Amino acid sequence: MHRGKGMKFVGDSRVPAMAGRKANIPKDYSEYPGKTEAFWPNFLLKEWMVGAVFLAGFLTLTIAHPSPLERVADPTDTGYTPLPDWYFLFLYQFLKYSFASGDYNVLGAFVIPGLAFGGLLLAPFLDRSTERRPSKRPLATGFMLLGFAGVIYLTWEATAHHDWKKQKEQGKIRAFVELNKEDPAYKLLQTNTCVSCHGDNLEGGAAAPSLQNSGLKPEEIAEIAKNGQKAMPAGVFKGTDEELKILAEFVSKAGQAAE
Ligand code: HEC
Repeated sequence: MHRGKGMKFVGDSRVPAMAGRKANIPKDYSEYPGKTEAFWPNFLLKEWMVGAVFLAGFLTLTIAHPSPLERVADPTDTGYTPLPDWYFLFLYQFLKYSFASGDYNVLGAFVIPGLAFGGLLLAPFLDRSTERRPSKRPLATGFMLLGFAGVIYLTWEATAHHDWKKQKEQGKIRAFVELNKEDPAYKLLQTNTCVSCHGDNLEGGAAAPSLQNSGLKPEEIAEIAKNGQKAMPAGVFKGTDEELKILAEFVSKAGQAAE
């Protein structure tokens, strides 16, 4: 028998079934000896076995690699930069360009992605060629390669220009410890207005970072309290050196084991 004689396209739903086929009579696959098998139970059993292996694999993976959870979302934290998962990084990056953001937000968020994904949706209706070789379908192949190149480039740009260290820091889950409000050192935090920016329990807020488990030494805290640091103004602390020492020691221990 010649190769391809009487060939039937079985994998392409757009190719009409061969004429003359009658309902409920199975197709004749005798031209594919050794390539057919009973659906039940042979084929289904194999499918189930592969499925079980994948399920066990995924379960193992979720246990070995827990989801990278971040702390509870805080709507008052305006400093937090949300980042989409890797498969949407290209859209995230796209929205950073000036022609797709600001006044042109609608263009970048709806029109251009809408055209791209709408085109993908309509592709089977627009390109009705039955040709299977990519080289014989220049338009379809061209648009696909263009799409791939665009997505890969934008994803790469997004990854390369992101501050991953800051990203990890901003979402860190920190144990929260209630501070002892009766401690004389706590009164110093109040009189020197530390709590107004850093929070009643130094847990951080919209204006300033958490000071719980800061990992800073008392000397470093005293230094910052007097001279400030970046967004924190200098001269916030107005007490005596003795008070500064008590306050700094209290802050450096804040967040470690409940008192
Ligand atoms: C006006 C608001 C404000 C007040 C009041 C304030 N801070 Fe701050 N503090 C900040 C900000 C903002 C930062 C973050 C500075 C930066 O970007 O490094 C900060 C940072 C710090 C840091 C460094 C934290 C770190 O992890 O690097 C320490 C320590 C600190 N503050 C202690 C104090 C103490 C002690 C007081 C009270 C004497 C105080 N702060 C009062 C706003 C404030």
